[in-house]
Amino acid sequence: MGCVIVSTDGQLLGAGATQRTGGPHAEIMALRDAQARGHSVAGATAYVTLEPCSHQGRTGPCCDALIAAGIKKVVASLTDPNPRVGGQGFERLRAAGIEVEVGPGAAESRELNIGFFSRMVRGTPWVRMKVAASLDGQTALENGTSQWITSAPARADGHAWRARACVVLTGIGTVLEDNPRLDVREVDTPRQPQLLVVDSRLETPLDAHLFIAGRAITIYAAVPNDVKKAALEARGATVIYCPGRQPGTEGKVDLAAMLRDLATREINEIHVEAGHKLNGSLVREGLVDEFLLYLAPKLLGAGRGMVNIGPLAELSQAIELEFRETTMIGPDLRILARIPGRDRF
Ligand SMILES: NC(=O)c1ccc[n+]([C@@H]2O[C@H](COP(=O)([O-])OP(=O)(O)OC[C@H]3O[C@@H](n4cnc5c(N)ncnc54)[C@H](OP(=O)(O)O)[C@@H]3O)[C@@H](O)[C@H]2O)c1
Repeated sequence: MGCVIVSTDGQLLGAGATQRTGGPHAEIMALRDAQARGHSVAGATAYVTLEPCSHQGRTGPCCDALIAAGIKKVVASLTDPNPRVGGQGFERLRAAGIEVEVGPGAAESRELNIGFFSRMVRGTPWVRMKVAASLDGQTALENGTSQWITSAPARADGHAWRARACVVLTGIGTVLEDNPRLDVREVDTPRQPQLLVVDSRLETPLDAHLFIAGRAITIYAAVPNDVKKAALEARGATVIYCPGRQPGTEGKVDLAAMLRDLATREINEIHVEAGHKLNGSLVREGLVDEFLLYLAPKLLGAGRGMVNIGPLAELSQAIELEFRETTMIGPDLRILARIPGRDRF
């Protein structure tokens, strides 16, 4: 979330963004910024992406801070989607005599914070699946080789998308075949996203490259193995048993339950970078909201596709997408595609 404070004559007085979970909200950061620049904000207007909070929470009510600072008007793009508090911030500001305008930039603000809205309204994070493939849709050769199909600029761009997510999610197949780090290296980032591995039988090697000092790692498993669990936890991972209970899902992680669990852990946005098997399970179960595809201008012929969902019997069974954006990244094509209607919540 963001906040910009502007004087009546249009001068920028302070700006701020919400800090990590538990940190100060955007309004507090903007007020501090104005103070650090030596500006008084009395009589100024605060432009915010989201309704200022009126509840104590972890950082104290932003409404009270705005009122105390003498802000005269608040322009907010969106009402807080949390049904327990939505609208209360505006009421509190109006009761203190502050003019409130709601709506400008609503679509853009919602898109920027789509994970937060998803968690608040649907109770699950927003799931974006990243795939790097050849033009004929192969993500790896039949023998598993996949490094590198796309170019260095496309990989760096992918790191920027990793950086904006709360969690990077992968599957045990990718861990065992590629031994990847799956951290953000190619772009500057104030923090590393958490790493999440779907590893039904706790096969993650204790010396896997993904164990990076200081990064949070969570492993969702289905088959209890408390000896291996203890060994992984000694390496700093958190292991959560989340077994499937429906017929046919025994021995595998319940992916839908995993997403609901992640929402309770305040995870807003998930960046999936897995192989075709886990991708296929997530897509088949209807758990993916959008795709971030990098297509290299090359053909690989037979190999491993993007999502293991077939074979379909009829074209009507196809999973329909809509292209939202196409951009050249170096020699590769980046496509953002969304499942129609997934963002209507
Ligand atoms: N180009 C790219 O964008 C990209 C990205 C990542 C990886 N890759 C490539 O993908 C290859 C690995 O592919 P992969 O498909 O074997 O790896 P994966 O999808 O990362 O992981 C496969 C594992 O996921 C498990 N899985 C599937 N559905 C599940 C569910 N519902 N619950 C729990 N576990 C589930 C499978 O378990 P079961 O065996 O029990 O079914 C399987 O062992 C590597 O060659 C890697 O280089 C490519």
